[in-house]
Amino acid sequence: MIELRGCFHGGIYSVDPSLVKIDFSSNVNPLGVSKIVLSSIQKDLRSLSSSYPDPECRDLKKSLSDYLKIHCECINVGNGATEIIHNFARMFAREKVIIPSPSFCEYELASRRMGASIILVPLKNFNLDADLIIEKAKGSDAIFLCNPNNPTGLLYRKSLKTIIERLDSSTKILVDECFIELVNGSNRHTMIRNIDEFDNLIILRSLTKSFGLAGLRLGYSVSNPRLAKKLASGQISWNVNGIAQRAGIVALRDSQHLTRARAIVKKERDFMYSNIRKKTQCFSPFKSDANYFLIRLTNHNSSTEVRDSLLTRSGVLVRDCSTFSGMGSKYIRVAIKNHGENLILLNALESIES
Ligand SMILES: Cc1ncc(COP(=O)(O)O)c(C=O)c1O
Repeated sequence: MIELRGCFHGGIYSVDPSLVKIDFSSNVNPLGVSKIVLSSIQKDLRSLSSSYPDPECRDLKKSLSDYLKIHCECINVGNGATEIIHNFARMFAREKVIIPSPSFCEYELASRRMGASIILVPLKNFNLDADLIIEKAKGSDAIFLCNPNNPTGLLYRKSLKTIIERLDSSTKILVDECFIELVNGSNRHTMIRNIDEFDNLIILRSLTKSFGLAGLRLGYSVSNPRLAKKLASGQISWNVNGIAQRAGIVALRDSQHLTRARAIVKKERDFMYSNIRKKTQCFSPFKSDANYFLIRLTNHNSSTEVRDSLLTRSGVLVRDCSTFSGMGSKYIRVAIKNHGENLILLNALESIES
């Protein structure tokens, strides 16, 4: 059985922020926020700051509806995807919740807050064990499925659909696609087009990752209108501030920003994978579909020691994966950033070998 632990995140506030020169522990768009988003916010900063925002996020929902080609009634907007994870748990995580492990820790935290009993189902070779999940999920209220998964960076291809098809319709399913827009060919992998087919299915997305709006906090869910209404009933008023709403509307118009980021991720991920393999002995990278990847430590150091050593020597922050349930102390995770930054990470990894 996997031990349940606290919920720990990466990011500069997970360590002494003054030591961090480059943060590889947060997996956001390598281009950051787009220029047109920044200039739109700057232009109207005064009114956006002093007026109440639209509590229904109507214009933003209309932009999301155009972007996704999905009806507005199917969309909920949250203060980051994290708010929606907690609303989902509040509404549906009553007694028994299923979470494949390792995965994003916020699912555990949100379900535990609701007093639900949590069953962590171990991954098999980093993939979903469909039969085991179906068996464990009997009589469960809710399940969280992260695609691509954090921290592994791998897409669940066939196994995800198999599980969704075989789960009882009384089990509410949250498919977390917060990183999918940075995956190549994401349209082939998303479950957004399946919300009419499964009336227990909710898809979660985040503009904090795909459009680099982490500080502004912006996420959304897509489901059938009945589930969307139920989720919205748990939401607090004015949950999404006016600057974030404006940033989201403008960001969604700038599809080139995402296209360019996706191309950088693909190219740089290949570059980092092959160079870490070639140039280091103690770091063994894993293939990934996402804008981040795992590295296994093959020497005697723990992931916490390696993170601290990289940080103090080079100002490079990587994600220590020992705080993911079921990961042990031999993995770190790194984000894909631009080429110059990736070279700094590569040098830092090489330098702590010597
Ligand atoms: C898989 C996954 N889902 C959701 C989130 C939260 O996203 P947001 O910043 O939109 O709250 C994270 C953050 O790291 C994540 O890794």
